[in-house]
Amino acid sequence: MAFVKLKPGALLSPVPPVLVTCAGENIRPNGLAVGWAGTVNTIPPMCSVSIRPGRYSHDIIRDSGEFVINLCGKDMMQALDYCGVRSGRDEDKLKKCGLTCVEAEGMQYAPAVAESPLYLACKVESMTPLGSHDLFIGRVVSMGVREDLWDESGRIALDRADLLAYSHGTYYELGKALGFFGFSVARKDVYQKRMKELRGTNRK
Ligand SMILES: Cc1cc2nc3c(=O)[nH]c(=O)nc-3n(C[C@H](O)[C@H](O)[C@H](O)COP(=O)(O)O)c2cc1C
Repeated sequence: MAFVKLKPGALLSPVPPVLVTCAGENIRPNGLAVGWAGTVNTIPPMCSVSIRPGRYSHDIIRDSGEFVINLCGKDMMQALDYCGVRSGRDEDKLKKCGLTCVEAEGMQYAPAVAESPLYLACKVESMTPLGSHDLFIGRVVSMGVREDLWDESGRIALDRADLLAYSHGTYYELGKALGFFGFSVARKDVYQKRMKELRGTNRK
């Protein structure tokens, strides 16, 4: 099949749409939707968010040196989208959306959102202007998982978090589990056992 050649764009897809929260001294907590978020290092753990300089949150993050990435389940979709189309300059978006700010360990100002399945609290390591967006790289200094998603066995049950995906302007919910890391080379008995477990996590 031939390709239709298009002008270049950064169309990585799907991406995780996240709610990035921030605050500062005498600045109330705010949140914005971010589609351009990424994992950039494992040890030490680091994530990135790309934010346009014009966003109200941009200077708060730059000046406070911290931000929290809140993963979003489908029950947060309405709030996430709202926080992505309205500015904290004009209103208290988190309050308006009925989101609950809670302390994120290691953060001086930025809260986590209690409704989020999992948060990553980040200290800004660097800010790199790229053009339309500034790339913030954050070192993850703490991570919290919502209590109901923490199994007795010590597993983070993200399969129960109804996480959202974002693809080319549309929100989706994740579908069924199809495989696991390394499945293509797994021993047959391991493959069968793991796949049985995985299929058990699929919602009907
Ligand atoms: C799904 C979605 C993804 C978005 N991704 C980004 C992003 O990666 N970077 C960015 O600067 N703005 C992004 N935006 C836009 C901001 O969230 C939006 O401009 C927001 O109103 C900024 O809020 P603030 O002015 O309170 O900071 C996104 C919006 C939506 C709805």
